[in-house]
Amino acid sequence: MSLFKGFLKNNKDKGERIGVDPQNIPTHIAIIMDGNGRWAKRRKLPKILGHREGSNVLKKIVRYCDKLGVKYLTVYAFSTENWKRPKKEVDELMDLLLEKLKNAEKELGGDQAKIRVIGNIKGLPIDIQNEIKRVERVTSQNSGICLNIALNYGGRDEIVNAVKEIVTEAEKGIIKNDHIDEEYFAKKLYTWYMPDPDLLIRTSGEKRHSNYLLWQMAYTEFWYTDVLWPDISEAYIDEAIMEYQKRNRRFGGV
Ligand code: FPP
Repeated sequence: MSLFKGFLKNNKDKGERIGVDPQNIPTHIAIIMDGNGRWAKRRKLPKILGHREGSNVLKKIVRYCDKLGVKYLTVYAFSTENWKRPKKEVDELMDLLLEKLKNAEKELGGDQAKIRVIGNIKGLPIDIQNEIKRVERVTSQNSGICLNIALNYGGRDEIVNAVKEIVTEAEKGIIKNDHIDEEYFAKKLYTWYMPDPDLLIRTSGEKRHSNYLLWQMAYTEFWYTDVLWPDISEAYIDEAIMEYQKRNRRFGGV
């Protein structure tokens, strides 16, 4: 297991724990992979090469999280708001996503990862929809980490969809008002099959929620870094987890 060297150097004389505690690994980590554009701009490269490098880093981080024992990793690849970006960038991102999905078993997940996509899948190009179906099917029996790719995902959109589904059930007489509680509602979300995130990592210095997992992150611990996503390495994941392990999670209690 790699250690974050800066932490090691700074804290070894203070008797603090060095490295990640394997007994307290977050079950579910969510990531906002921000900064691909700035990474490319600093190198005078086309923006899509920033996204491409970002997807290479993702591959490394999925494997590392799996090795640490993280059970679910949910990454924000394309939001419902990202359609507002220039057409060229959207087209290039869709091409990159299609390419990565076609090779997802090798390029994203690794041997044992289960890959799922959350978001408004019907709003995506048909070739991407087909690849999503294929990759979800072929990885469904895998026993390793569950990689959830948020694609055409928006937290508000997800909540509105859940409400519509419940209203339809009510109109058909399947449910009544007092059947609806938090647990029932959560089962209508794209994330129905997983626990809420324990830890959110956002890169590139932004400190916004950006319409990501709005319902699910009620009690998630946030960790931010100025490092751009393509510069992220395993050591930063260690740093985020070590910070998480120092937090006292009370979930509103004492
Ligand atoms: C934000 O950076 C990043 C995105 C909108 C796309 C994230 C996509 C990837 C990491 C690659 C593909 C992912 C998969 C799952 C194959 P930005 O463009 O907003 O960066 P900037 O703020 O520096 O411009």
